[in-house]
Amino acid sequence: MLRPKDVPDISDYGHPANYAPAIITPPPPRDGWTVDEQRFTNGSVLCATLENGAEGFLLSDRPFELIDRSSRYKLMAMLIKQLKQHPDRNVRVLDFGGGMNSIAMRGILKHPMFKNRVSATNIDLFGKSPDSQELATEGVDPSKLRVICGDAFEWDSTQEDSEHGGEGFDLILAWESINKISGPKVYPAIEKCAKMLAPGGEMIARDDRLAGRSGMDPWMVLPLFSFPGMYVSPLQRIANDHDVMMVPSFCEETFDGRLVLFGAGAGLLLMRKTDPEHPVVSPKDYNAAFPEIQTAVEQHERWWENVSK
Ligand SMILES: C[S@@+](CC[C@H](N)C(=O)[O-])C[C@H]1O[C@@H](n2cnc3c(N)ncnc32)[C@H](O)[C@@H]1O
Repeated sequence: MLRPKDVPDISDYGHPANYAPAIITPPPPRDGWTVDEQRFTNGSVLCATLENGAEGFLLSDRPFELIDRSSRYKLMAMLIKQLKQHPDRNVRVLDFGGGMNSIAMRGILKHPMFKNRVSATNIDLFGKSPDSQELATEGVDPSKLRVICGDAFEWDSTQEDSEHGGEGFDLILAWESINKISGPKVYPAIEKCAKMLAPGGEMIARDDRLAGRSGMDPWMVLPLFSFPGMYVSPLQRIANDHDVMMVPSFCEETFDGRLVLFGAGAGLLLMRKTDPEHPVVSPKDYNAAFPEIQTAVEQHERWWENVSK
């Protein structure tokens, strides 16, 4: 079957915790797609492929802590910022291509810092409705998680939106998903996210192709090497049309702006919607997340020590 180009060696991802949940339970069948098990030297994972072979991806389901850790805690910092921005209501998080079992969103909903402060939606082509009993046993309030099994491009988020005041999402996570969608759809995906952000809302999107496994991808690389404010035109247009600021970055960039690269790096696209109530702040400004971020980092480091034993 497909893949040599797009499927990395699973060992590149550091730890089987990346994929374990996807191995256990296969997704419901989906017209036009086949799902196979892919074997690697240190484990196996399900892989979805369009029957015409044009598209495909691993059905990974990364935990929140792992995503956060590989973003050098930027995801958590963004969540903390949103919590402070909205002290009187739940922060609304969207996972765009968030995996079959919504593991990342479950992780946020039961995290001691975010429990009862966040409501989450996962839109995924292979998303599975969660079992309420299972969620409750896990410590997740079932009323806080919504899973939509469908194509993110066709999804009309307005109903979802009207349920929470029509303002949009405060945080959008797109981890290894926008770049898994074939070339021409990348900009529409970014535009869709830009439209769905609430004023002051932020997006964090990772594209591992910058890591050099399958060559560099222009949608991330060109903005990185542009002068500030001069993104490639599709991104510039989206920024203008939807009042968002886009800041290309790397996962490896630290809060104080240092880039600590050992070999390959992974590209990040950060986005923030203008908020008329508040002055424009770059999504890369994490000051509002301190000092809480320190506690949060310690928690995730402890998590990592446990899973990597
Ligand atoms: C590599 S996985 C990443 C999953 C998760 N974000 C993670 O980091 O483990 C890519 C995900 O994007 C989803 N996806 C791909 N195209 C999609 C689309 N058009 N609409 C919704 N989800 C999509 C896939 O079903 C898959 O779960």
